[in-house]
Amino acid sequence: MTSARGLVAAQSARFASLDPLLPPATEPPMDGHVITAALADGTRVAGVVSHQSFEPHSTTRLWSTAEVWEMLPLVGEAQGMDALLTRFRRHLDSQEVGDDTACVVHWPSRDSKAARAFLDHGLVPLSVLAVRLKTPAQHVSRTLTIRRATPHDLETVLELSLAELEYSSYVGSTIVRPEAASTKRRALTERLKNASPIWLAERDGIAVALAECAIVSSEPGTMAAARLPRGRWGYVNCVSVLPGARGNGIGQQLLAHAHQELHRMGTVGTYLYYNPPNPLSSVFWPRQGYRPLWTVWEVRPASALR
Ligand SMILES: CC(C)(COP(=O)(O)OP(=O)(O)OC[C@H]1O[C@@H](n2cnc3c(N)ncnc32)[C@H](O)[C@@H]1OP(=O)(O)O)[C@@H](O)C(=O)NCCC(=O)NCCS
Repeated sequence: MTSARGLVAAQSARFASLDPLLPPATEPPMDGHVITAALADGTRVAGVVSHQSFEPHSTTRLWSTAEVWEMLPLVGEAQGMDALLTRFRRHLDSQEVGDDTACVVHWPSRDSKAARAFLDHGLVPLSVLAVRLKTPAQHVSRTLTIRRATPHDLETVLELSLAELEYSSYVGSTIVRPEAASTKRRALTERLKNASPIWLAERDGIAVALAECAIVSSEPGTMAAARLPRGRWGYVNCVSVLPGARGNGIGQQLLAHAHQELHRMGTVGTYLYYNPPNPLSSVFWPRQGYRPLWTVWEVRPASALR
């Protein structure tokens, strides 16, 4: 355990030198499978592989495979990712791996040397967690009506949300499962009932875009603390402009409003996940002030890990 603590401390130092916005490295989960490797210079590195299955009608299954093997690397300051991924591959040989499966590793986006190892082992940068710190509001001229969505807007919110799911299923991680509409309907009914921060943009009284957001706290002991600096954050879960209305500045207007409102709720910044292969969002989000913090390296099915 002492050496695991040493690796966590060394990894925190590595994270701090890579990117000032990264929180310190977290302790590995206690219930995973431990893998270790010795490097050529005698340094030892470790990783914990946890295996998760998601319920058939869970919202997680709309953006994730049904089963996931996720590795939490503990490489400290060493360049040990290649050796760990080799061990990860070997561990999978002892597992029953179906088609609806993935191997996943979350790793700081700015660690370019580790990126080489992920690519060599067949993982792709399928998603990034990108952040935007609170900045003084910028003036964006408004041509749309933007308002909070209420439970009466369920059908409109659902339609826009499903349009995003479908688009992202071609260029990202989402999966249009047969139960997608009913699962989304259930989740959105709940969020609208709880007055979650959800906005609609309307043109001539017709809703053309959706920003579905939430407030997330990053405090010691929370899941968010492993990914974000401490504080209250605005989470931008789903942004969708109707297919025929994209590329006309609607997304930009809606986000300028959502950012302003989320900051009014006391947030230090906002974050979201986008898919680098998405030709719209990979341009759109950096233009709105976001930059990658974590990359979610993934390979589907899990058996394709090299
Ligand atoms: C991504 C999305 C929300 C952006 O909204 P939008 O209204 O189309 O975007 P805007 O017109 O406001 O564009 C803002 C910036 O994004 C970029 N952009 C938008 N459409 C683009 C396109 N077709 N090609 C290249 N860049 C584009 C531009 O750089 C633009 O900035 P600029 O006009 O100052 O150059 C929208 O296209 C969409 O719903 N896409 C499908 C679903 C999706 O990908 N959702 C996001 C998942 S994370």
